[in-house]
Amino acid sequence: MTSIPEAKAPADEVVLEAIGLTKHFPVRRRLRDLFSNRHDAVHAVDDVHLTLRRGQVVALVGESGSGKSTVARLLAQLYPRTGGDIRLHGQSTKVKSGSAFRAYCARVQMIFQDPFASLNPVHTIRYHLTRALKIHGNAGKTDADLEKALHELLQRVSLTPPERYLDKFPHELSGGQRQRVAIARALGAEPEALLADEPVSMLDVSIRLGILNLLRDLKERFNLAILYITHDIASARYFADQTMVMYAGRMVEGGDSETVTQSPAHPYTRLLIDSAPDPDRLTGVSDVEDEDRGNGEPPSLIHPPAGCRFHPRCPMAMPRCSAETPVPLEIGDVPGHWAACWLYDSSEVAK
Ligand SMILES: Nc1ncnc2c1ncn2[C@@H]1O[C@H](COP(=O)(O)OP(=O)(O)O)[C@@H](O)[C@H]1O
Ligand SMILES: [Mg+2]
Repeated sequence: MTSIPEAKAPADEVVLEAIGLTKHFPVRRRLRDLFSNRHDAVHAVDDVHLTLRRGQVVALVGESGSGKSTVARLLAQLYPRTGGDIRLHGQSTKVKSGSAFRAYCARVQMIFQDPFASLNPVHTIRYHLTRALKIHGNAGKTDADLEKALHELLQRVSLTPPERYLDKFPHELSGGQRQRVAIARALGAEPEALLADEPVSMLDVSIRLGILNLLRDLKERFNLAILYITHDIASARYFADQTMVMYAGRMVEGGDSETVTQSPAHPYTRLLIDSAPDPDRLTGVSDVEDEDRGNGEPPSLIHPPAGCRFHPRCPMAMPRCSAETPVPLEIGDVPGHWAACWLYDSSEVAK
């Protein structure tokens, strides 16, 4: 553990890529459907492209049910995919066996929303971290090596002095401390990429910033590639280098976080930003998690709207939007800023 060189790989190196990633969950068929040819499915994720690079945070933003967790679980190889590809260092990967899964997990680790559910209540922090170190062969040879590695893990997540926490049970810690343990456990694998699925949304607003700052510090020290999933676009601006916006299973906008949050191009991104009026919410007291996020509801993903999935809610919708699925189009303000919206098609602009 002591030998981990900090920031050894070149920054910007591509670690993980999703290419046209697609996941449809079959819907259980009712008796009368058995005699028909209907095969309904939830179109949870369709044609998602995403690149995670060393030393960078990519935020995946969207309201509840937009497919964010499904993207993370696909990238973690927890589900088989319906279509598309996942590449680890350029190599297409499909994990089937236990040993291949373990090898994949050593490089790509997930952090979940609820740190209480992800830690076993009957085991101590020492048990959880020891297990992670041993599974990934990072526990050293002797008891002293293991003890040293355990102390280092807790120090990395600022749970110090480590001996105060090692023999505690999850319920003896606060939510923020539990999430720090979950992060330490993920680091026990010495991963290259972290997939953090709403890592702060269950925590008190007052401690969210501390956890995001910790993740940022770890990103820099260990050159981690981080996918940061959130429904809070304001936190994406604060924390992420790149921001991707997802709506009803599809990516609708992407670019550097500053541009996407300050000059949003897609009508859905604008709606998200307008309905999150308090940009300092991360440190403030209000929480709009359960509030209405604007007019209308997200569509059914069993029969998603044709064309642009946002068109039924879109104030700018044109006839074309209900017929043709928009392709990603360059906005032209900043390199790399795109939106899947026909408003930015040059032939529309010319009209
Ligand atoms: N295991 C599953 N089986 C069937 N449908 C699922 C499953 N997991 C997620 N879904 C559906 O996929 C859609 C996207 O869900 P999810 O990825 O959890 O969204 P988010 O994380 O953005 O809230 C939702 O409609 C959800 O009901
Ligand atoms: Mg989710």
